[in-house]
Amino acid sequence: MTTAVLIVAAGKGTRAGGGVAKQWRSLAGKPVIDWTIAAFRRAGLNHIMVVRDSEDSAALDALHAHPDVQQTDGGRDRASSVLNGLLALQNEGVQHVLIHDAARPCVSSSVICGVLDALETNRAAAPGLAVTDALWVGDDQMVVGTQDRSALFAAQTPQAFHFDAILSAHLALEGEAADDVEVARKAGLPVCITPGDSNNIKITRPEDFTRAETILRSSMDIRLGNGYDVHRFGPGDHVTLCGISVPHDRGLQGHSDADVGLHAVTDALYGALAEGDIGRHFPPSDPQWKGAASDIFLRHAVELASSRGFSISNIDCTLVCEHPKIGPHAEAMRTRMAEITQIGRDRISVKATTSERLGFTGRGEGIAALATATLVQL
Ligand code: CTP
Ligand code: MG
Repeated sequence: MTTAVLIVAAGKGTRAGGGVAKQWRSLAGKPVIDWTIAAFRRAGLNHIMVVRDSEDSAALDALHAHPDVQQTDGGRDRASSVLNGLLALQNEGVQHVLIHDAARPCVSSSVICGVLDALETNRAAAPGLAVTDALWVGDDQMVVGTQDRSALFAAQTPQAFHFDAILSAHLALEGEAADDVEVARKAGLPVCITPGDSNNIKITRPEDFTRAETILRSSMDIRLGNGYDVHRFGPGDHVTLCGISVPHDRGLQGHSDADVGLHAVTDALYGALAEGDIGRHFPPSDPQWKGAASDIFLRHAVELASSRGFSISNIDCTLVCEHPKIGPHAEAMRTRMAEITQIGRDRISVKATTSERLGFTGRGEGIAALATATLVQL
């Protein structure tokens, strides 16, 4: 099923203030729109169209970071922005469309999956949050009545539709509509209510930025992985450790370059992702990895993490050997691993210990390495 996401981001964000429209402003370290786009990617939706104001340089700057996201011009009000977006998607063979406010960056995968699932059996579905507060009717600062809340829902986005149905509904719209559910209903399209989420707030006023930041920080997915590897010494004149060639009177034996440090780090990343270990991704039985430089393995793990939306927060690697001495090479190892992983050197630690001449490392039969890595998905 071809599903597109239409993110409306052409508003001026007047109520939120701040000069720059809210969707382009920074929230917990990156623009609001980045969070919104990332939420859909996490749910596996990558066909994304953003409706924005092409006169707004902040919009163009922020979207520059998303070359694969399509863009089109917004309109005078939200409904005309949506219509422009739908028209821009018209000839792309889209069957389902999710229409979402850019100003709702905290939308969860379960809210998104809720509407997607409902589209299997409905032509329109949208998340609603049952109203829990008592409702009053007020007049001139006085309560003049109460309102039964039992059938009331607060409307959220993404609102999801069969593409042709919502395009026809928008083309037929006369007058104004608060959201796409209203547009759909005016065209006689029944809309199924799916579970909303109290965290799926629409940034509207200045104080909503603090709330959204708290929500995003509390829902961060943080993963820890560990890795351990051993290679035995054999004949040779150097060992490769953490990507650096270190002169030694023996070499390390192994199918690849036997870089025990990079192997432990790579396994720590696979571990954090629950993606097995190097042996699963690069079987030793496969001759193409014979003598391979181990940065290939580490790069693969880094790319896998990134494709899942994770960034590496830090790496800590401990090498266990009596010889060679690691200290003089530790800085070069950190620099090399920073190059391979594309993270700051200050997030990479390489340290070493002897094992007090105990065990196989103490007897100089081989080198062991332990590594820990932290991944963060925002
Ligand atoms: N929107 C849009 N085009 C418009 C108006 C609004 O694409 N002409 C988008 C906004 O960018 C936002 C969403 O519709 O993501 C919901 O609108 P709202 O929260 O009202 O945002 P703004 O209109 O930007 O804010 P304000 O009403 O405070 O000016
Ligand atoms: Mg508005």
